[in-house]
Amino acid sequence: MSSADNDAFEQTHHQSLSDPEKFWRSAAEEIHWTKKPNKILDTSESPHGKWFVDGELNTCYNALDRHVEAGRGEHDALIYDSPVTNTIKKYSFAELLEQTSRFAGVLRSAGVEKGDRVIIYMPMIPETVIAMLACARIGAIHGVVFGGFAANELAVRIDDAEPKLIVTATCGIEVNRVIPYMPLLNGAIDIASHKPSSVIVFARPEADAELIAGRDIDWCEAMAMAEPVECVPLKATDPLYILYTSGTTGIPKGVVRDNGGHAVALNWTMKAIYNVEAGDVYWAASDVGWVVGHSYIVYGPLLKGCTTILFEGKPVGTPDAGVFWRVIAEHKVKSLFTAPTAFRAIKKEDPDAELLKQHDLSNFEILFLAGERTDPDTLHWAEDKLGRPVIDHWWQTETGWSIAANCMGLGMLPVKAGSPTKAAPGWQLDVLDENCNPLPSGEVGALCGKLPMPPGSMLTLWNAPDRFVESYFAEFPGYYKTADAGFIDEDGYVFVMSRTDDIINVAGHRLSTGGMEEVLTGHPDVAECAVIGVADQLKGQLPVGFLVLKAGVLKESEEIVAECVQRVREQIGPVAAFKQAAVVARLPKTRSGKILRGTMQKIADNEAYRMPATIDDPIILDEIDEALQGLGLSKARD
Ligand code: COA
Ligand code: AMP
Repeated sequence: MSSADNDAFEQTHHQSLSDPEKFWRSAAEEIHWTKKPNKILDTSESPHGKWFVDGELNTCYNALDRHVEAGRGEHDALIYDSPVTNTIKKYSFAELLEQTSRFAGVLRSAGVEKGDRVIIYMPMIPETVIAMLACARIGAIHGVVFGGFAANELAVRIDDAEPKLIVTATCGIEVNRVIPYMPLLNGAIDIASHKPSSVIVFARPEADAELIAGRDIDWCEAMAMAEPVECVPLKATDPLYILYTSGTTGIPKGVVRDNGGHAVALNWTMKAIYNVEAGDVYWAASDVGWVVGHSYIVYGPLLKGCTTILFEGKPVGTPDAGVFWRVIAEHKVKSLFTAPTAFRAIKKEDPDAELLKQHDLSNFEILFLAGERTDPDTLHWAEDKLGRPVIDHWWQTETGWSIAANCMGLGMLPVKAGSPTKAAPGWQLDVLDENCNPLPSGEVGALCGKLPMPPGSMLTLWNAPDRFVESYFAEFPGYYKTADAGFIDEDGYVFVMSRTDDIINVAGHRLSTGGMEEVLTGHPDVAECAVIGVADQLKGQLPVGFLVLKAGVLKESEEIVAECVQRVREQIGPVAAFKQAAVVARLPKTRSGKILRGTMQKIADNEAYRMPATIDDPIILDEIDEALQGLGLSKARD
């Protein structure tokens, strides 16, 4: 790095904070507006800020139409690479536009209008992207639900979003296992109080499904009859989508994203953070059901005019740990973005990266990792094997893009292992104590962003304006609470250490231990329980449950544990990866009755812990340690 690089980053960061309106007005120039915004930032209603409030635009127009109108219609917009179905299919911008505007016509014919919600419960196929963009085209608000969730979780989202219509496919494919979607969807609609008026079903050859007359519409038949429709101009602050994410309870938070701030911010990040231009091939190996998929499989790359890769496979097993290298080489990928867990999986299968040698990665420039902290081992392994920069960056569903990153388009800063580098432009980060006082560098506290939040951050929580304020802005007035704890070192590097709430991170997936506890206490024999996240070499963390049974229960503990594991799988979904639990006589608590989950987690992770002064009965911690040892999770302490 030259000092000029450092200067470019520092200057940009400084400009973004000293005059945010000038900074983002300039970034907004790259977006096509049907009505240009004059009012850039509005904090009159809420200090978190709304952006471009009097502007009008259409996100789909910016992602597709404008590239075609600029003469780039024949360029690849999307490459669908599916090792699980042995398919590679390319869509030019013109083709993706044609399919999207036609599907927008299908939605219209089914009665979907601006502001209506559409739930998309789909696997990683191009039709999912087409459905999302078609919603954006007509101003319908999409809510994509990840395929690994169970019917019950889908039902909760249906009841909250109250969709007019649901789009689905007959199945997803997990490595070599076909997951029929229709039983899950029908189950969810049965559970939900809200009933959608129609369901559009994309039939995949891998699974048939019987359509329900009067409710279900076949995707292909509807497309054959549909008329393409044009983009609807939308207010910058009209919602583009709702994306549900785990909160501290079983009720997920519906993060609402706007159109204007989102388009401006994501488009800006493509160059500033990921260092890609129109025409470059960009690959986010995630799932469209997560925020990474929304921001960097669909919207970010297409807004910028990049080619995006839609990969239906896993880092290992489809067919082997060389598949990432094959995709990078075959499609000339310039930047890859994935979760560290994917690289840990590859490292485990192919520690010397032998499979890498079979592929030409000469176009590949940078690996970006996020979703969880990049552990130094994985960082160094990837740097060593790839011989290219490996960039950790930190963000959340709520923020939509990086809070801290090494902004590669502004000049690379030196990498410090374990740190996602510095607060990104738009973010002033402080580490606060419980009285909202900034802590000196090096001290761990709550990582909080000074308000307003930059464009692209959430607009609100769907149906939950009070929860929005309570969750994010009440505890630290004037700040956005990230709910991550960490510190900032003397060079301004951010270190994200842990969550401050009951969220755990399993294979880059954000899960609520509180949600799992709600499911476990629903078991008729369970009196109370606790779920903690225990460090795992592959997935970062894994949930482990502790069950206290009701008096007089005669059933074998193993049977109850097996039933609890099944319950979580059925009610939350396989993605929770809840497979381990132990029956214990009691849970460690403070005298006021608070369960000491943090201490339990430290025992499980063999970390030093201080005996909580308020603990009710210290012996219980030994019992927990024994239970963990029984699960093979804790080593006996001296
Ligand atoms: N539909 C249905 N089931 C799904 C699913 C989906 N879309 N996604 C995951 N599942 C299931 C899996 O089949 C698995 O089921 P099982 O318990 O029967 O084996 C379970 O949910 C857990 O899945 P996953 O966390 O993916 O674990 P895995 O053992 O199958 O694979 C990795 C491990 C590391 C390879 C995988 O987690 C991975 O690729 N991670 C990348 C992380 C990522 O993309 N994160 C997104 C944020 S950036
Ligand atoms: P999600 O909303 O699913 O993207 O999850 C966001 C959470 O994942 C954050 O609040 C962090 O706890 C964690 N996270 C994401 N990226 C990183 C990172 N680079 N370093 C540390 N934690 C991360």
